[in-house]
Amino acid sequence: MVTTIREGIVFHPQYLDAAAQEALLRHIREAAKAAPLFTPEMPRTGKPFSVRMTNMGSLGWVSDRENGYRYQEAHPVTGRPWPPIPPLLLDLWRDVSGYAAPPEACLVNFYGSSARMGLHQDRDEQDLDAPVVSVSLGDSALFRIGGTVRGGKTQSLKLASGDVLVFGGPERLCFHGIDRIYPGTSTLLKDGGRINLTLRRVYKPSH
Ligand code: SIN
Ligand code: FE2
Repeated sequence: MVTTIREGIVFHPQYLDAAAQEALLRHIREAAKAAPLFTPEMPRTGKPFSVRMTNMGSLGWVSDRENGYRYQEAHPVTGRPWPPIPPLLLDLWRDVSGYAAPPEACLVNFYGSSARMGLHQDRDEQDLDAPVVSVSLGDSALFRIGGTVRGGKTQSLKLASGDVLVFGGPERLCFHGIDRIYPGTSTLLKDGGRINLTLRRVYKPSH
């Protein structure tokens, strides 16, 4: 059942059934062959993220010590363009985003059992009218979501394989992160772990 967590944050538990999750996973495996997972680094300090990443789409999100957070057309290691966003995800975006133009970027985050992601805002996009659409696969995770000001009240939500979360409108710049992964809660990934896909529009459609 679709739930509005608060204005701008909509939760679609079990949006993808088991067959759709398997199909999506096959696409991601293919994509990760062409565009291997890399370890991003924090700007300036160079501290490595605990998640590994890749992207699909015309643009991909990357970060390293020298140049920080940004979108680029090429994989930072291979220099090749990112593989395309699979049709299943474009359909999903059309269904849940309420936004006419398609996403340009799909960030793929892979979490091992001890990976986490600190509270942050997604603010490297020019088009903040489009929401962020997040899809979870594999082990469940404890997602924390706050308001648009750092240090405010937060709430926690467990995200399971197949769940979709949309944040946009007044909550487009909400702080969010992953506190922990719950190992062994899904059999989708044979070696365990979690994949999160984040679909985003980067430029305004007129660009
Ligand atoms: C992210 O904010 O990039 C990832 C969120 C998640 O893993 O659910
Ligand atoms: Fe994010």
